[in-house]
Amino acid sequence: MTRTVLDEHLRWSLLSHLRNARTVTDDLFQLVQPEALYDRPIPERHRIVFYLGHLEAFDWNLICAGAFGMDSSQKEFDRLFAFGIDPTSGDLPDDKPSDWPPEREILQYNRNVREAVDRCLNYASNDQIFWVAIEHRLRHAETLTYMLHWLPFEAKQTQIFSLEPQAGRVASRQVEIPSGVATLGMPRGAAFGWDNEFDAHHAHVPAFLIDMYKVTNGEYLEFVRAGGYEEPSLWSSEGWEWVAGSGTWYPKFWLPQGGGWLYHTMFADIPLPLSWPVYVSHAEAQAYARWKKKSLPTEAQFHRAAFATPDGAERLYPWGTCVQSAGTETSPFTAGIQQLWMRTLPATAHSELVDSQAMAGNGPPRPSHHFRVLRPYLFTQGTRRGFLTGGITS
Ligand SMILES: [Fe+2]
Repeated sequence: MTRTVLDEHLRWSLLSHLRNARTVTDDLFQLVQPEALYDRPIPERHRIVFYLGHLEAFDWNLICAGAFGMDSSQKEFDRLFAFGIDPTSGDLPDDKPSDWPPEREILQYNRNVREAVDRCLNYASNDQIFWVAIEHRLRHAETLTYMLHWLPFEAKQTQIFSLEPQAGRVASRQVEIPSGVATLGMPRGAAFGWDNEFDAHHAHVPAFLIDMYKVTNGEYLEFVRAGGYEEPSLWSSEGWEWVAGSGTWYPKFWLPQGGGWLYHTMFADIPLPLSWPVYVSHAEAQAYARWKKKSLPTEAQFHRAAFATPDGAERLYPWGTCVQSAGTETSPFTAGIQQLWMRTLPATAHSELVDSQAMAGNGPPRPSHHFRVLRPYLFTQGTRRGFLTGGITS
């Protein structure tokens, strides 16, 4: 059977998105001082060097070897950078820097894989695996950004950046999400899905109210001042065990300073920006919500908030039914990462809820607001991951 290669426009679009995504991750790795490449900023995660090879190993295994049956000349790298090195004892990784190949060998491997992937694109008849590779890379860009935030300033290349003027205080607002069905997950065999996305199922969600804006540092500061970290009844048993055991009484990237607070950003400590969204763990978010006599949204409520239409139905994306509006070359992932890794935007900057509700009316599409509300991550106790986003419900 003759294979039909991709339409020329689609092929160029894929190549453009792929190269943009590579630039995003290349820029992130460039931030790391050479001697810090083999560091492990977060004890539970791999060393940074793993991710340097992982992105290309994923592309090779998925596209070149998986879809095109190409033979690899560096099978040990294909495997090492697909899975990493298993811990020899306990749960935490215990590999040594010397267990990993030199940077120059990894960069050569990456160059070889990129050339091979680009060649495959010329003969591809299916675009889906390339979108998967792009999404995979951009998701790692997001987690790499998070990981590099933990890296000491001296381990990063100095960056010059400017701070936006702080937004004024915004009155808290809630919107009502009508009752209806939330479709969670996806059916097997229909399209590519990540392993935790199967199967499709439906949940009926009663009407509820949800905050329109993210919780800010200023709002969270009231919780800290009110002794939120000293009140066991606000915390889950696991959360309290962590707070009490670690002596934690404020968020990870806050620094007490002379009766006030500094905020530890990616490149500098600055006065705590009260209008920025607070950056806390799930346990902290949950305790804050209880203190406000509200609760965090369930996954089904998140979906309703993002995808519901006023008549109770669902749309494919918060902004409509198309993946991307015609003429927009910046992907939603790329736009978000570019904004987030240099600075945090005010809590009101992107409200998926505002967009979701606005798009249900007659409002035109707004490409810069293409942020899909993702399903919440699973948080492990003791690690401080993720933003408190999407509001709280009552
Ligand atoms: Fe990955």
